[in-house]
This record gives sequence, C-alpha cells and structure tokens, in this order.
Amino acid sequence: MKIKGVDAKSILDSRKEKTIFVSIKTAVGNFSASAPNGKSKGKFEEKPYKKSLEEDIKALKNLSDYFSEENINYFEDLKRIEDIVKGHIGANTLFALESAALKALAKEKGKNVWQLINENAGKSKISCTTKSETAPSRRTEKDFVGARKIPRLVGNCIGGGEHTNIEGKKPDFQEFLLISKAKTIKESFEKNKEIKKSLKIDLKEKDKNFKEKKNDEEAWITSLNEKEILDILKKHSSVNLGLDVAASSFYKRKKYHYYNPLLDRTSEEQLSYLVNLIKNFNLFYIEDPFEEEDFESFSKLLKKFPDRLIVGDDLIVTNPKRLEKAIEKKAINAVIVKPNQCGSLLEVAQVCEIAKKNKIKIIFSHRSGETEENILGDLAFGFEADFFKCGIEGKEREAKIQRLIEIEKDLKNFKEV
Ligand code: PGA
Ligand code: ZN
Repeated sequence: MKIKGVDAKSILDSRKEKTIFVSIKTAVGNFSASAPNGKSKGKFEEKPYKKSLEEDIKALKNLSDYFSEENINYFEDLKRIEDIVKGHIGANTLFALESAALKALAKEKGKNVWQLINENAGKSKISCTTKSETAPSRRTEKDFVGARKIPRLVGNCIGGGEHTNIEGKKPDFQEFLLISKAKTIKESFEKNKEIKKSLKIDLKEKDKNFKEKKNDEEAWITSLNEKEILDILKKHSSVNLGLDVAASSFYKRKKYHYYNPLLDRTSEEQLSYLVNLIKNFNLFYIEDPFEEEDFESFSKLLKKFPDRLIVGDDLIVTNPKRLEKAIEKKAINAVIVKPNQCGSLLEVAQVCEIAKKNKIKIIFSHRSGETEENILGDLAFGFEADFFKCGIEGKEREAKIQRLIEIEKDLKNFKEV
C-alpha cells in the first residue's frame, strides 16, 4: 500500500477541547482517525503535540509527499511511517496517523484492523517487515485463531477527582468502576447501563446534594464519600467492583490531600486505608492507588493482595521501560494501555508483548476527552486485551464498545458457519 497524501485538522472532543484528526489518501480511498485527550495525565506520558496542535498539522502537511515513497504492507511497516515523522509530531498526532494507515491497510487487504495485528504470528511477530505484496484475502479460519478472547468491560459509573469540574464536595477518587461478569460484551454493556441507571435512584435517596449531573466520562457526580459510594455499589453482586484512585492527582508535598484536610494521608496511611477498603468492599481492581513514582507502595499492596488487580496507569504510561521496571519491582499485575500516551502502535505492541510474557493483565482504555473514533475496539481485541475500560454512556464511548460487540458478533457468525 502506498500513502498518496496526508492531511490533518483539529476537531472537538467530548469535553469540547481541540484534538487532532488525520486523513490519508491511498489507491482505495480516503481514511481518517482521531485521537482523544487525557486530563489526569501521567507526568511521564509523551507530549501530545511537538509544540502545539496547529504546528503538528503544519508538519504533517509538509511531510505529506514523503509517505508515497514507502510501501506499507504489514502492521510492522508502521516503522516506515515513524521514521518519516520522527521528531516532527507528538504522540496524539502519531496515534491518529498510524490508526488511519491501519484502516487503509485493512481495507486494501479486505480484513478487519484487528486482523492486521499479529498477522504474522507463528512466523516472526513484531520485528517482521516482509515486503512481498499479498492479494486481498478472504476471511479464513486461520484469521481467527491466536487472538482471540473477548475482553471484559470495565465501566466508570460514579466519578470525582479531575474529571469532575464542580465547586464543592466530590469524591477524591477519580472513578468507581463496574467490572461485568457476563459472558458477552453485549450482556456486560447492558448490565453496566442497567446498574448505572439504578444508581440514580440510590444517589437521589442518599445524597441530598445530588443533581443528576454527569462528569467528563458521563459518570454520576455525587457529594458522597468513598465509603458511602461503595456501600451503595456493594449490593450489585453481578459485577466486580473497582477503583481508579488516580492518586497522583491529589498528591503533593509527600501527602495525599483529601477534600477533608483531616483525612490527608502519608503513603503508609494511604496503604492502610486502601487495604481496609479492599477487604471491606471486596474490591477486585485498584488503579493508581499511589502516586506515579511510588513503585514501592504499589509492591506492598500487591504483596498483600496478589489475587486482586493492582493496576498501573500513570505509573506505566504505556511505556515498555516503565512496564519492565514495574515488573522487576513486582509493583503491578495489570497494566492500562492508552495508545495515545505513547502514540506509537509499535510501542503499544511491545507493551502488550512484555505484559503477556510476564502474566500481567492488559486493560485497553479510553481517555476522559473522547472522540467517536472506534479503533480502540480493534486494537484491544487484536492485542488480546483482558479488559476494556471505556465508560458506560456517551456516544464517543459507546462507539468503541459497539465496535467490540460487532467483532464479537462476527466471531460468533464465523463459528456458526
Ligand atoms: P485521563 O485519565 O483524564 O488522563 O484520560 C483517565 C484515567 O486516569 O484512567
Ligand atoms: Zn487512570
């Protein structure tokens, strides 16, 4: 496949903030993709744009002619694109560009994007750059082996922290999560929506300040505290419960600063608070329980709860080196993968490889400022994610979950043929 031209513009995300939209032209048509924006970002994330979004748009337009010199025939050939844009654009722009290229390649080959990932499995995976041209192939059973588990949904139902832009009392923790136990994505999605709807009634009853408002990720806003929220959630035995503490967002001068200053906690105190919450509410999943440099406290928590998911998001920032460090320190047993934290899908592939080799669970995740881009579903399925964290409501989030439902349906049809 030859890329005949590249163009870019800015669009608005679900928070009405600007983000990048990239389109490419090939012999078979025009293909586009956009990138999301984070808010509670890890400080070790790659910069979304080299200098600014506008400068990245200019840079891509300037480089447009160079792409046609390269042949892109396999996922691994994204390296050729990266060589052209290296040093000129940031992670958000790179992610949108590579996503658009994968969509074009999928169309050319008559495949789904997820089928391009590990296409060469069994030969050589990530380093392979075979040049031979292959004719568009019919879907065969071989395409469905290897990858091929449906990830479990992780949905944010009540939120606080940086995603909840209100005056007054709100939860210090960023996300209260429902992790469905249902067999299919479709059932899980329905279950999560049903529980979230029922929470409105509970919150109305328990929280006199409840105004039926939702935050950046469309999670309910409440003035209840962590324990009061978990008390409401614990009756839902059809799901596992999780938290994204996003602890870096309220860590300053060696302390975790809570809304009530009397509750400010040192790392040790934060650890014992979380230990209690995990025990009392049987929590299954805890993301970023400590700030993004404190590998040691993560390790202490994992040692106490090897059977729960201790998840690194800001700690790892989809970076292979940080993941290796966390593995060496036994800090986590699950990792968040947000492709635009690093921008390079080849690096995403590396992170997933390392995770799988070390039995670290993989959680593909949306960002708090989302677009209707749905490639995350293909990436999660292609890279054999264990979980898919993508909210519960809102057209931007539902687009990605719907894509997974589509993949699930496709697989089922195929098996029934
Ligand atoms: P984001 O954070 O605002 O950076 O997308 C989401 C998260 O912490 O999981
Ligand atoms: Zn997080």
